[in-house]
Amino acid sequence: MLNPFDIVIFGGGGDLALRKLLPAMYRAYQEGNLPEGSRILPTVRGQEQQQEYIETAHQALKSFLSDGEFNDKDWQAFSTYLIPVVINVTEADDNWNELHKILNSDAEDKSRVFYLSLPPAVYGQCCEILSSKGLITETSRVVVEKPIGYCGKSAEEINARIAEFFKEEQIFRIDHYLGKETVQNLMALRFSNALFENLWDAKTIDNIQISISETVGLESRAGFYDKAGALRDMVQNHLLQLLCLVAMESPHKLNAKSIRTEKLKVLEALRPLLGEDVDNNVVRGQYVPGELGGKIVPGYLEELAEGASTTETFVAIRAHIDNWRWSGVPFYLRTGKRMKQRCAEIVVEYKPVSHNVYGNNVGPVQPNRLVIRLQPEESIQLTLMSKKLDKHEMQLQPVTLNIELSDQYENGFHSDAYKRLMLDAAANNPSLFIHRQEVRRAWKWIDPIIARWQEKGAPSLYRAGSWGPEAADELLEECNHKWFNVGEG
Ligand code: BG6
Repeated sequence: MLNPFDIVIFGGGGDLALRKLLPAMYRAYQEGNLPEGSRILPTVRGQEQQQEYIETAHQALKSFLSDGEFNDKDWQAFSTYLIPVVINVTEADDNWNELHKILNSDAEDKSRVFYLSLPPAVYGQCCEILSSKGLITETSRVVVEKPIGYCGKSAEEINARIAEFFKEEQIFRIDHYLGKETVQNLMALRFSNALFENLWDAKTIDNIQISISETVGLESRAGFYDKAGALRDMVQNHLLQLLCLVAMESPHKLNAKSIRTEKLKVLEALRPLLGEDVDNNVVRGQYVPGELGGKIVPGYLEELAEGASTTETFVAIRAHIDNWRWSGVPFYLRTGKRMKQRCAEIVVEYKPVSHNVYGNNVGPVQPNRLVIRLQPEESIQLTLMSKKLDKHEMQLQPVTLNIELSDQYENGFHSDAYKRLMLDAAANNPSLFIHRQEVRRAWKWIDPIIARWQEKGAPSLYRAGSWGPEAADELLEECNHKWFNVGEG
């Protein structure tokens, strides 16, 4: 059991805090993982918000928790952990003294987490004030959200600023995809089953697809999203992290250092995409009006309401990892907004059998396929060839072994990436967080793609409600491959 901790949520009234962080802590409470004596301190801008905060949190939990999770009894108990404080994160005024008083009213070695749910531009100032006010103790940690910067240079500047006040081992860079149960299960699957690990290389695998499709559009994030785009928002972090976990060697131990070392080697082995390589291996797209879930939805430009923008809402990439294990295996990365279905999955397509003893008259012998689905439901599916049992003559058909992980959850268990990561930060376990060198390396691969886009071309258009631009299909067809789309396989 975790020791009691204090978590200060800077930006406590913001969307992330209300939508994700408070529900995560509430679930931790319900599961008995929020130790008594812990305190949650969301920061707000003024006294009015402070007075209203408990009710704001109450309403947020009611609307953002799933059916059956919210109940008044648990809420009453959970609300006693909440202590809203007034803080202006960019001004070292007297309000900080209140935070100081509260934090210092407990033992000095109590675990202290500063969660910066803030724009990265103010990380530095906030950390500086924390330091000048004497709030950073040996047992303090800072959690920072992605995206860290808009390019390698700005990420480096932000990381350097934070490093003036916190040691690297105190800095927890969050990528919520790493907190998803199935993502951790990916490691369990790979490293505790000889079956897969021995069949996990260029000799047996034909291609790997990592795809995160979303049905949502801009939501209320136009200001952020139009500057960022899908490459920075999703590829630089979530997709590359998934790629690392799929492609890395087995860590020598399951600790942060070993895992990060192996992930870093993958990022270092990623073949750079420079100049024309970008034109030939990367597709960027932007959605135009279309139909989704039976409704007509506007295009990106209409949602943005600003006329012109070349920001990409879709990216597909053919990547290669130049090492012994993966030489010659394409890794296809894809993400997009307003796509046909919400789904995140890793699809491992095996090579065909080396010799088809059945010939072609028993039906095609399809290569095996392993699908690790992260969402909307968490499952693992393995497709094998089998004899059609009801036929006297030999006929083959693909059959799928399906493990629905959600069926295995005990009553009340809710897979929540933020809960896992916040509790890990409180327990000082950085295994699922990102090291500064990983951020640096990821940007090193992404920066030349952005540079090429700035020089040349515009996004290919795709209809909202489709699987992306045709150019993304062509990218795979060039290598005789095809996207595996959920519901179509
Ligand atoms: C965030 C991105 O990191 O991840 C969003 O900023 C995206 O644009 C979200 O919608 C997707 O997360 P999930 O867990 O809903 O797949």
